Amino acid sequence: MHLHIEGSLEPELMFDLAERNGVSLVYDSVEAVRAAYAFDDLQAFLDLYYQGMAVLRTVDDFDDLAMAYLRRAHAEGVVHVELSFDPQAHLLRGVSLATQIEGLRRAMRRAARELDLSTALIMSFLRDRPAAEAMQVLEQANSHLELIDAVGLDSAERGNPPGQFAEVFARARDLGLARVAHAGEEGPASYISEALDSLGVGRIDHGVCCLEDPALVARLREAQIPLTVCPLSNVRLKVVEAMSDHPLPALLDAGLKLTVNSDDPAYFGGGVLDNYLACHEAFGWDEAVFKGLARNAIEVAYMDDARRLELL
Ligand code: HPA
Ligand code: ZN
Repeated sequence: MHLHIEGSLEPELMFDLAERNGVSLVYDSVEAVRAAYAFDDLQAFLDLYYQGMAVLRTVDDFDDLAMAYLRRAHAEGVVHVELSFDPQAHLLRGVSLATQIEGLRRAMRRAARELDLSTALIMSFLRDRPAAEAMQVLEQANSHLELIDAVGLDSAERGNPPGQFAEVFARARDLGLARVAHAGEEGPASYISEALDSLGVGRIDHGVCCLEDPALVARLREAQIPLTVCPLSNVRLKVVEAMSDHPLPALLDAGLKLTVNSDDPAYFGGGVLDNYLACHEAFGWDEAVFKGLARNAIEVAYMDDARRLELL
């Protein structure tokens, strides 16, 4: 439920697409790209993330990117994937919204046919760009609305509070779209409350900083607001120092509705299974805990009721 499809771009595919499109990369090998993946914070990651995705130009590129990820996810036992994408990052490079959505949707249709994988598409706005730009993108998306399930909010969190996007999210609500937002990854707990109050989001991406505010934790528990937590991402971006310091056990003890997700699997050390395994190693969780987390995801995911019943 929390996967940036551009963050699933493995260095090997990055080189293939660079060659196909005549894009030059600043790295001379796959190993050099991987070696650069040592981040001090979210911004350090975002700089490489936006640079890497510059190889994506055509419908086929978006299709190949998504299909490669969906095959890997299927191979590790994933049955439903919600792909989030960052349209502004591609529009700014002259790649149309239609190109992006057509490529992603083509892979999603093939994954349904060939892998029995259900999927949803989340269009995320960049919170470090103006809200007016996000509104323009939303209006452009009007002609593709049946292909978009939800809107999201991502990119650099500190200093970019959710409330700036209240109008954009109100418009998304009026258009019948579900809403999610990153909050409380690097930013303060107050951004989580703000995302709930000003944006009307149904779930929070990350949310790990909620523990700073006991009243907020109580609210999240009472309303059973899902948090899409990404433990390996939090370690790689130094939100926490190590898995042993991760607040997931405390969040679980607090009775919150948790799911475990991969965020940007190519950059942060693996997919959903790797995140589950890291939790098993760090916290000694047994099968019942993981079944509970997977059940939470199925209960709140964007899928039709027939699919939900089939998976539960
Ligand atoms: N946080 C915020 N924005 C992002 C992330 C993240 O972990 N990954 C891709 N965009
Ligand atoms: Zn994320």
